[in-house]
Amino acid sequence: MPTPRHRSPSRRPLWIIALLFFVCMSLIALYVYPPRRYSTCYFLSSNVCGPFTEWLPPVRHSRVYTDNELAARVVISEILSVPTVESKNTKIAFMFLTPGSMPFEKLWEKFFLGHEDRFSIYVHASREKPVHASPIFFGTEIRSEKVAWGKISMVDAEKRLLANALKDTDNQHFVLLSESCVPLHNFDYVYNYLMGTNVSFIDCFEDPGPHGTGRYSQHMLPEIEKEDFRKGAQWFSVKRQHAVLILADSVYYTKFKLYCRPGMEGRNCYADEHYLPTLFHMVDPSGIANWSVTHVDWSEGKWHPKAYRARDVTFELLKNITSIDESIHVSSDSKKVVQRRPCVWNGMKRPCYLFARKFYPETLDSLMHLFSNYTVI
Ligand SMILES: *[C@@H]1O[C@H](CO)[C@@H](O)[C@H](O)[C@H]1NC(C)=O
Ligand SMILES: *[C@@H]1O[C@H](CO)[C@@H](O)[C@H](O)[C@H]1NC(C)=O
Ligand SMILES: *[C@@H]1O[C@H](CO)[C@@H](O)[C@H](O)[C@H]1NC(C)=O
Ligand SMILES: *[C@@H]1O[C@H](CO)[C@@H](O)[C@H](O)[C@H]1NC(C)=O
Repeated sequence: MPTPRHRSPSRRPLWIIALLFFVCMSLIALYVYPPRRYSTCYFLSSNVCGPFTEWLPPVRHSRVYTDNELAARVVISEILSVPTVESKNTKIAFMFLTPGSMPFEKLWEKFFLGHEDRFSIYVHASREKPVHASPIFFGTEIRSEKVAWGKISMVDAEKRLLANALKDTDNQHFVLLSESCVPLHNFDYVYNYLMGTNVSFIDCFEDPGPHGTGRYSQHMLPEIEKEDFRKGAQWFSVKRQHAVLILADSVYYTKFKLYCRPGMEGRNCYADEHYLPTLFHMVDPSGIANWSVTHVDWSEGKWHPKAYRARDVTFELLKNITSIDESIHVSSDSKKVVQRRPCVWNGMKRPCYLFARKFYPETLDSLMHLFSNYTVI
C-alpha cells in the first residue's frame, strides 16, 4: 500500500504541466495586454516594459500649461479668431532681406511698374547701405542690424521687417524675399494668387533625419515636443493675421533662441529653418499651405542649392520652374524618403511657385530679356 507521502508517478507531471501552462499564459497575456502601470510591469517582467519615459502619462493633452504658455495660447487663438479687417486699398508688402545692394532692382521695377497702389517695399540691408538701381527702392530701407547666417538674428531681421510692414494697415500679405530672388509671374498673377486665398505659404514638413528632428533639443520641453518639431525653407509669405501672430509670440521664439542654434549640444540647429514651421504646425496647421512660393533647386544634393548662371537662364528653365505643381521634400536620413504633394490652392491643383532663387547677378540681362515672355505663361 502506498504511504500518503508517496505521490503517484502520474500526478507530478500533471502538476508541473499545469504550472507551466499558467506561467506561459501569463507571459502571453503580459505581451498582449501589458500592465498599465510601470511599477507593475517592471515587477512582473522587465523585458516587456518599454523605457520608463514611455510610461509617463501622454503629455500632449493632460499637460498643465505654465502661465506664459497659457497666455501665449490664449493670445494666439484670439488673433486667429478675429476676422480680417478689409482695407479699401489692399497691398502686398514685399520685404527684402539682403546684405547690401540688390542685383535685380531693375527686374523688380519692371514687375512693379503700373501697380503703385497695390504694393509696398521694405528693405533690411544688414551689412552695407544699398546703392539703388531703381527709384522704386528709394527710401525703402528700415533700421537694420547684423544678421549671422543660421542664427536667431536672422529670425529677428524677419520680425523687424514684419513689424515695419505691419505699421501700414493696407498691407494684408507679407512676402519675404532675398536679393537673389526673382519674380516668375507678372504682378497681377502674384497679387491674385496671394490675396485670393486664406492660407499663408510657410514651408513645413517632418524630416526624421539628422537635419530635421535630429536638431531637436530636449531643452525645448515642455512647450515643444519632439513630434511637433518641423522643418522648412525660411522664405515665407504670410497673411496679416499670421504676421501679427509671429510678433505676438515670445514663448516659443525664446525656446528656439536658446536651444536651436549652431553648435547646440554638438549639433547645428538653424532657427530660421525650424521656428516658423514648428510654431505654425503647433498653433494653426490648417492655416498654412506647407510649401513656400519661392522655388529653389536642391536636386544636386549639395550643402547649398543650385545657383543659376547666365548660361542656365533660358525660356525652357523658367517654363520648367513655373510648371511645377507638386512640392517635394526629401528626408535627410539615409533612406532619403521623398514626400511629394500636389500644390492645392483653394481646392485646385496649381503651379506652386511665384518667385525663384538663387540667381547670380550676371543673369540680370537674360532675365530682363525673357521677362515679357515668361510672365505670360
Ligand atoms: C477667407 O475667410 C473669410 C472669413 O473667414 C471668408 O469670408 C473669405 O471668403 C475667405 N476667402 C477665401 C479666398 O477663401
Ligand atoms: C499642412 O499640413 C498639416 C499637417 O502638418 C495639415 O494639417 C494641413 O491641412 C496642411 N495644410 C494644407 C493647406 O493642406
Ligand atoms: C526642363 O524639364 C525637362 C523635363 O523634365 C528636362 O528634360 C529639361 O532638362 C529641363 N530643362 C531645364 C533647362 O531645366
Ligand atoms: C517670346 O515668345 C515668342 C513667341 O513664343 C518668341 O517668338 C520669342 O522669341 C520669345 N522671346 C524670347 C526672348 O525668348
